[in-house]
Amino acid sequence: MTDLDLFSLQREHLFFTWSSQRDVRPLEILDAAGARFCTREYGWLWDLESQVYNVGCGHRHPHIQRRMIAQIEALPAAAPNALLPIRAELGRLLAAHTGLAKAFLTTGGSEANENAVKIARLVTGRSKIITRRSSYHGATLAILGIAGDDRKRPFEADLAPGLHIDDPYPVPVAAAGDPSIWSRNLDQLLDREDPRTVAAVLLEGFTGTNGMQIPPADFWQHVRRRCDEHGILLIADEIFSGFGRTGRWFAVDHWGVRPDMLVVGKGLTSGYAPLAGVVVNAAIAAHFDDHKLWCGLTTYAHPVSCAAAVGALEVLAAEDLPGNAARVGELLGARLDDLWRLHPQRIRGHRGLGLMRTVELREPAGALARRALDRGLYLPFKGDAIFLCPPLCLTSDDVGEIVARLEQALAP
Ligand SMILES: Cc1ncc(COP(=O)(O)O)c(C=O)c1O
Repeated sequence: MTDLDLFSLQREHLFFTWSSQRDVRPLEILDAAGARFCTREYGWLWDLESQVYNVGCGHRHPHIQRRMIAQIEALPAAAPNALLPIRAELGRLLAAHTGLAKAFLTTGGSEANENAVKIARLVTGRSKIITRRSSYHGATLAILGIAGDDRKRPFEADLAPGLHIDDPYPVPVAAAGDPSIWSRNLDQLLDREDPRTVAAVLLEGFTGTNGMQIPPADFWQHVRRRCDEHGILLIADEIFSGFGRTGRWFAVDHWGVRPDMLVVGKGLTSGYAPLAGVVVNAAIAAHFDDHKLWCGLTTYAHPVSCAAAVGALEVLAAEDLPGNAARVGELLGARLDDLWRLHPQRIRGHRGLGLMRTVELREPAGALARRALDRGLYLPFKGDAIFLCPPLCLTSDDVGEIVARLEQALAP
């Protein structure tokens, strides 16, 4: 079958996501290994999007594959409440790595956030959820309404307005280091809404494609304090930023804050199978000892997905991929500094943590992303920004290779 035949066949009977179907230009993936994948159209490409920020452990890792195959052979299907060794093992690992008590496992990240909201409402008996103005927490209807991201626009008329604090950055130069700007913002919102009606504050551990902005040093601690004062639950959505992507196991670890719930997905299985979850503290877990947990769908805690997650968590720990992301990410940041210095007329700046980085251009980024394909780079972009979020197994040599190719694409 030629690539054109495959495209026509797939397009005839299957939708592509987030696109008008006539405009979509998908690549055909033939193979993948480590931090790269091979396409029919461009050959091997560095995967700077990790298949939608998913494949943390790298492509086709044999340990994760073996774990999944073993589970497929042992028992590939089981109802969500059935007792299975692989589920018990995953629960133990999640508690050990998050420092929290108990996980509720779902299929995808949006649903995990929906369940976090349900849990917050069940535990507190309150309804309001506060998010950041440009936050993204998923595309199912309830969470679209709660978050601030633009992807809710076509449905907005039918959604209750969200409750948002301003993004805590960029801080105006004159006020740099003055936390009062954004903390006043949260305090005013709490006053206006009556904090006794607020169930939770839901924030991304580190924002994804809405900016990868580093918050002021005491932002998280301030939010934590306000939540504690008013009995509000703090939920960190680490679906994008968790499992080593920012150079720590979880982005909130950079700011020493302990949320009441941690929402995880994507890197949890390194994208090898659909799984996400809400990990909660001991008090929340205990609440449901005697209260019904009104949550659950047919394929939750799927056994093969649990096996993929156990495999991925073992790889992350054994290969210290969070540590690698910190070291290699720092080098990537330094090399991007060099590139910025060499091309200030094309690059406005760059920022990020670990292997979660963005470069802001002085022009729309689409043309650069298209040229990068011919240089062997798969480069996600949005507006004037490109994103560099490769698998966490990237090496220092890979960084040199990627930045050299990026420079070629930048200066054609
Ligand atoms: C921070 C964050 N939350 C939630 C989601 C939604 O996850 P999913 O696409 O698995 O539903 C995403 C996806 O990109 C995300 O980045």
